[in-house]
Amino acid sequence: MARLMDMPTVLVTGGAGYIGAHTVLALKGAGYPVVILDNLVYGHRDLVEQVLDVDLIEGDICDRTLLNQIFTQYDIQAVIHFAAYAYVGESVENPAKYYRNNVAGTLTLLEAMVAAGVQCMVFSSTCATYGNPHQIPIPEDHPQEPINPYGMSKLMVEQILTDFDHAYGLRSVRFRYFNAAGADPEGRLGEDHDPETHLIPLVLLTALGKREHISIFGTDYKTPDGTCVRDYIHVTDLAQAHVLGLEYLLDGGQPEVFNLGNGDGFSVREVIAAAKTVTEQPIPVVEGYRRAGDPPILIGSATKARKVLGWEPQYAELEVILAHAWRWHQQRHA
Ligand code: UFG
Repeated sequence: MARLMDMPTVLVTGGAGYIGAHTVLALKGAGYPVVILDNLVYGHRDLVEQVLDVDLIEGDICDRTLLNQIFTQYDIQAVIHFAAYAYVGESVENPAKYYRNNVAGTLTLLEAMVAAGVQCMVFSSTCATYGNPHQIPIPEDHPQEPINPYGMSKLMVEQILTDFDHAYGLRSVRFRYFNAAGADPEGRLGEDHDPETHLIPLVLLTALGKREHISIFGTDYKTPDGTCVRDYIHVTDLAQAHVLGLEYLLDGGQPEVFNLGNGDGFSVREVIAAAKTVTEQPIPVVEGYRRAGDPPILIGSATKARKVLGWEPQYAELEVILAHAWRWHQQRHA
């Protein structure tokens, strides 16, 4: 009840990015004052200024002086940490970039938090920490054997968080996302990566005529139709989970890790077929070779998040995810 009168301020790193911005919207909806730290390498200033309307500090998580200033200037009680590079292929080509930013940068942020006495972090981890699954749906206690530096960088941070809890009492919730997709149901925000590599936005850009075709990366997987299967989770449902994770920590909850997915898988062909129905546009397809490092099937069990956090995804249907993303893409690329 005390929180209703005096809502704690939350620092959101990477809050100008796709999942970060949707989470800021959800935090604002729940009444939390928010400060964003984003280096704007991939984030969007226009969306922060026009939609989110919160303080945006342009800078880097590796900048300890800046972090100290932020923790002095604002009475921050918790950090939700999204800021990271997240291109799997690039991480294989340039691992130093990923370890420096995602691991060393997070370490700098965590040290600044400890120095400032900030003891709660919600951390954006990934199903890429599991590697090739031995079991479907994947539970949280599945072995973590990442097959690329991106996944390894996130796993390293998970380990650092465990150690920081033991050493300094810094408590964290670590969310391992499956495939974030969709857009704000009211059309205020959506996905806008440059370069874009994700299936759903590429399919929709093809439907919009901005791309000639969508390439299917591999049709010879041991899956029902030969193409990869993924668990697509609406970005607004992910955002809501972050608010619940934050509240869990602010209420004194112990460090925990949760998968965030729908527990349902769709193949690349199924996504394209559903997108044709939703957009009512032709979507030319080219069947191509496998992309290196793609596990055939990734589906997560999120029963723990439902049970412990009371998380209830509102937009689990693929058609709804696609319809919201379609509305956003039509607006953004009008
Ligand atoms: N795909 C295509 N054609 C494309 C793009 C993607 O066929 O043009 C396929 C991929 O091969 C994959 C599926 O569509 O089978 C989904 O691909 P995305 O790139 O949309 O998503 P990923 O499953 O590769 O990536 C997601 C997250 C990553 C995370 C990864 C873990 O976006 O951050 O899951 O495997 F690391």
